[in-house]
Amino acid sequence: MSNEKTLVLIKPDGVRRGLVGEVISRIESKGYLIEQSRMFTADRALLEDHYAEHKDKPFYEPLVEFMMSGPIVAIVASGNRVIEGFRSLAGATDPTLAAPGTIRGDLARDQGTKVVQNIVHGSDSSESAVREIAIFFPK
Ligand code: RTP
Ligand code: MG
Repeated sequence: MSNEKTLVLIKPDGVRRGLVGEVISRIESKGYLIEQSRMFTADRALLEDHYAEHKDKPFYEPLVEFMMSGPIVAIVASGNRVIEGFRSLAGATDPTLAAPGTIRGDLARDQGTKVVQNIVHGSDSSESAVREIAIFFPK
């Protein structure tokens, strides 16, 4: 689908470290379009909705607290195969193991925190993308 969309989040660690421009630049340099963006501090209700699939995981509460700890940037990016393309740009979840050349591999490492801080989120399927975009960009 040529106008496929994905939800990207620049997490509080990325904003605190001044990596907003770097992340957006990598998305644009790859050839995707930034369609919408919004910087704000997310509240618990929004994050519980976004992370519903992780509700029973041990890292759930630390994850929600971390994501509320400062401003985030929510972005809708578009382009053919952008969902898998952004996941490829982001790299593996664990920044220690993420390949060099990826956002997480180049810019993050394990800080020994309760939940891994890895700079970005990207939707993992077309169903997730539709659901997540509606959460962060309600009509
Ligand atoms: P994301 O949703 O942020 O794009 O990351 P992901 O798909 O690569 O990873 P996912 O399994 O969906 O996990 C969501 C976020 O939870 C944190 N996490 N911590 N064992 C851990 O400490 C752990 N596992 C996951 C990470 O911030 C991950 O991005
Ligand atoms: Mg995920």
